[in-house]
Amino acid sequence: MRHITVIGTGYVGLVTGTCFADLGNTVCCLDIDETKIKMLHEGKSPIFEPGLEEMIHRNVQGNRLSFTTDYDAALANAEFVFIAVGTPEGVDGEADLKYVGQTAKTVAQTMQHPLIIINKSTVPVGTGDWVADIVRENQPAPVDFAVVSNPEFLREGSAILDFTAPDRIVLGSLNRDAANKVAELYLGLRAPIIITDLRTAEMIKYASNAFLATRISFINEIANICEQLGADVKEVATGMGYDKRIGHYFLDAGVGYGGSCFPKDVKALAHMATTHGTHPQLLKSVMDINQYQRIHVVQKLRDVLGRRLNGKVIGLLGLAFKPNTDDMRESPAAEIARAMLRENAIVKGYDPASMGVAAKMLPDLQLAMDPYDLAKGCDALILLTEWNEFKHLDMPKIKSLMRQPVFIDGRNLYEPQTMQTYGFTYRGVGRGY
Ligand code: UDX
Repeated sequence: MRHITVIGTGYVGLVTGTCFADLGNTVCCLDIDETKIKMLHEGKSPIFEPGLEEMIHRNVQGNRLSFTTDYDAALANAEFVFIAVGTPEGVDGEADLKYVGQTAKTVAQTMQHPLIIINKSTVPVGTGDWVADIVRENQPAPVDFAVVSNPEFLREGSAILDFTAPDRIVLGSLNRDAANKVAELYLGLRAPIIITDLRTAEMIKYASNAFLATRISFINEIANICEQLGADVKEVATGMGYDKRIGHYFLDAGVGYGGSCFPKDVKALAHMATTHGTHPQLLKSVMDINQYQRIHVVQKLRDVLGRRLNGKVIGLLGLAFKPNTDDMRESPAAEIARAMLRENAIVKGYDPASMGVAAKMLPDLQLAMDPYDLAKGCDALILLTEWNEFKHLDMPKIKSLMRQPVFIDGRNLYEPQTMQTYGFTYRGVGRGY
């Protein structure tokens, strides 16, 4: 059993701290946001993550997990301090490290005994060295420490699974002994552990996310070509995926990627490349294609309803950037809703989890109670998030509630022939002509 402190109780920090507690460690999670800590003290999770609230409750009851806003309390018994604060997109796509820098400075000023400081946040290559400099410069008196990079590979909506059954653990440090100590925290997960240097570990994270984003933009480009050549991209992806070198994952064509990671990380990697004298043509194309998909899906709507959308009633089925999360950061639905509202369309939206987020983010969006309430009076529906509960809707009922039976399937959730049989004017992404 080790004593672990996690700074930051967002999507990454809270899952990391709770899962480490569930492995039998004593964990203290700190956040400077008192509202979040108050919610956690009341047994509520400030984030939507399936299974997390129950796991938090179990570990708080087991006296393994605690929450605080106080750095002295958080570091008093700590052996390991994970920095899991946000690294939002800054100017020109560069990752904004102000929260990481502030955290490192406060840790330095507070620590009273040797610590292993672990960067869990996604940070540009070289940040580990920068954190070490900040700690060294801000300690009132020298106290031993080591910095280790330990990037996360957690997907929202399956973060607990991704922590407890990881494909690999990546560690990077100039201090091999410190890296080995962090590796011991993960031994119970029986996953491959890669120990390398700081910069390489930081690059593994960016390269992994950028590659996954590239797969998505690749299949979306193939989808757009399929539309011109009469091929079905879903079948193409299936045919490709049996090749072990390709695999079936991350070949789902549609409106493209969103979320708080892929958009930010691809931009940050391109920025690192550009500012260090290289030309990330492929990364720029990945971003361009992803942006185009959103426009392309709305163009499909214009092809059916006419170029001008003012006065048309459009229903967005799904608002979160993907299923099993309430997160709407960089969500295609948010961008598409704003664009149509600017054209004075009447835009309605429904999502199983993100209605509260949508109400704050899109005040002019009309919120529906369920998919059928959403369909009422619509000239078209656009599916943008492939929630399970959308997979078996009563389509004849949906059609009867709409003003016009137009269905734009931004995630290829349905089959064209089936939808056409129901009488819809149906458009998917890359589903042949
Ligand atoms: C991602 C990485 O998967 C994870 O390893 C990293 O730690 C954080 O970023 P996340 O952003 O939570 O996780 O979601 P993910 O499931 O990867 O999906 C990202 C986006 O890609 C979503 O908008 C999703 O809709 C889209 N996507 C995914 C596709 O458009 N097609 C696909 O085939 C797969």
